Amino acid sequence: MIRTGESMIRMNPNMIHTGPLILVNSEHPLQSAIHSKYLAPVQQIAPASTEEKHMRLERTCLRQLEALLEACRAEAQIGIVSGYRTRMEQQRIYEKSYVDNGPIFTASYVARPNESEHQTGLAADVGELNAGVDYLCPSFPDHGVFADFRRLATDYGFVQRYKQGKEHLTHIACEPWHYRYVGVPHATLMVQYGMCLEEYTLYMQQFTWNGPHLFKKMKGHLIEMFFAESGEGKEIPINMGKGARVEVSGNNVNGCIVTIFHRLGGEEDGS
Ligand code: DAL
Ligand code: ZN
Ligand code: ZN
Repeated sequence: MIRTGESMIRMNPNMIHTGPLILVNSEHPLQSAIHSKYLAPVQQIAPASTEEKHMRLERTCLRQLEALLEACRAEAQIGIVSGYRTRMEQQRIYEKSYVDNGPIFTASYVARPNESEHQTGLAADVGELNAGVDYLCPSFPDHGVFADFRRLATDYGFVQRYKQGKEHLTHIACEPWHYRYVGVPHATLMVQYGMCLEEYTLYMQQFTWNGPHLFKKMKGHLIEMFFAESGEGKEIPINMGKGARVEVSGNNVNGCIVTIFHRLGGEEDGS
């Protein structure tokens, strides 16, 4: 039964494996390759390396990365080193690194095929332009526009994915250059809570659809979040007021995170 202001989300098996919050790592490999219609060519952001030709990113991730660079006025100093990679490209990078750099370096800095976020189109390696950056470990300093980029990243839905102190969870070394789009407000919450995506994925599972939800006020919106465990054909009721907007993302493990942006104080939607 659908009451006024309420609607339903019908779960389907593919939903778990797509969306900006998917966890992709050695324990949770990619389950479905991103369809090319969701990828867009990187045109406005300067390449900081010649290694990858015709770079692409997932559309929303690309738009947000462009906006972030513009907000930092960083277009002349920060470029993109690596974007979307196919499984084959990831395999080639892994094998080449293994030969060139050995097994320890490679295990620390290169994900195995299907375990790389670059295959989702939601990850971008950024680097200092004109610095002759290293392809696998590009220079990304922590002063000036680089510091601005780090500080503003969450407002645009990005987190530094592999941080110092989280290696036991991510199984990847600290990578100051690898930014992952997880969306708003999740990036802000991850940084506030000091959680990497492995931790955040687990944390969100306590807010079940029929239990208490997580609420955060942010920039004119009341944002409601909850977790829905997977189940084919299952319907999840959601409460949508006038002008509310909903986003659903799989976690690539066991269900979906539902994010509802409720309007506060008569603001027109569009932000
Ligand atoms: N450098 C990251 C871990 C990757 O290869 O996806
Ligand atoms: Zn990367
Ligand atoms: Zn809005």
